[in-house]
Amino acid sequence: MMKQDAIYYDSDIDMSLINDFQIGLIGYGNQGQAQALNLRDNGFNVAIGARKNGQAYQRAKVDGFEVFSLDYIASNCNLICLLLPDEIIKSAYEEHIEPYIGNCHFIFAHGFVVTNNLLRLPDTSDVILVAPTGPGRILRNLFLNGQSLPALIAVANDATTNAFNLALSYGCAIGCAKAGLIKTTFQEETVVDLFCEQAILCGGLPGLIKAGFNTLVSRGYNPILAYISCLKEVKLIADLMFTEGIDGMRQAISTTAKYGSFTTQDVIINENVRYKLNGILESIEKSEFSQNYLNSLATDLKDLQEWLKEEKQLPIVKTGKIVRENLNF
Ligand SMILES: NC(=O)c1ccc[n+]([C@@H]2O[C@H](COP(=O)([O-])OP(=O)(O)OC[C@H]3O[C@@H](n4cnc5c(N)ncnc54)[C@H](OP(=O)(O)O)[C@@H]3O)[C@@H](O)[C@H]2O)c1
Repeated sequence: MMKQDAIYYDSDIDMSLINDFQIGLIGYGNQGQAQALNLRDNGFNVAIGARKNGQAYQRAKVDGFEVFSLDYIASNCNLICLLLPDEIIKSAYEEHIEPYIGNCHFIFAHGFVVTNNLLRLPDTSDVILVAPTGPGRILRNLFLNGQSLPALIAVANDATTNAFNLALSYGCAIGCAKAGLIKTTFQEETVVDLFCEQAILCGGLPGLIKAGFNTLVSRGYNPILAYISCLKEVKLIADLMFTEGIDGMRQAISTTAKYGSFTTQDVIINENVRYKLNGILESIEKSEFSQNYLNSLATDLKDLQEWLKEEKQLPIVKTGKIVRENLNF
């Protein structure tokens, strides 16, 4: 059970703490753009680091930010947020940041590179996690509507003995303390994030959708109906669970659907699946997944590219194109 004192809100936090810093955001993608805009709207000065030939450079300029090289941000900012794709952070850090940094502190939006010890971060730097619990676009849209996404906050190195307050201040400044800042560790955030994206969000759920679609279509059912029921309607159920929880979703569905889920859930999610879920979690906890991933990066993720190419040819993908072209929803 979570202790209430492990969640922090706007009223608990001195947001002005980060006023003492020259803030540099390296990366102006999903998170970078949203965090930079929210920081600016909350009155903070932000410098953006982006490569000159990239789209991010132009996008940040169009949004009215001062944009610099990564090296410049490393030399001139003392609160550096590394908002690059996780697979890029190590090489960018070694080439453009590590040689130039002075006395500075680091903020990450995901624990992966720190948990896997991929960077030689100075002992004198605070190393902080402020991980919004959703995409940047939603972080920004909620902020504009006066709402927010919760964020997970943690400290991996507390050089100043004030790192946790700095994490609170930054989390508040990007707008996340309205919903709540949840105290965690880099390790916990990384493991939970990887496990959920693999077992549920991007692995398990799409796998189940594909299997359900194939079952119907291989027995002669109309692929368009199968697509709508197996894939499109997931959003409706997900929205219900998002706002009302599992019990609220059950209340909103028909008695037939309730009875059907009662009789089939344990047939699908059986002992074997639970065993596999534990195996996935253990592989992440023991860093086996990360090691395999890092090794695959060295060979340009050839297996992944092949799998993605094959997935594009699946009947469910082709049906999706037809549904999007012909049905206006
Ligand atoms: N996406 C999410 O929903 C989400 C949610 C929570 C946390 N996070 C975390 O936030 C961090 C940033 O993720 P993101 O999704 O925001 O990343 P992203 O959108 O993929 O970020 C792309 C940014 O990285 C730059 N970039 C890519 N390759 C580069 C290179 N070789 N050198 C210099 N710049 C390069 C891009 O600039 P160019 O235009 O020049 O390519 C762009 O500014 C990650 O740690 C991620 O785990 C993400």
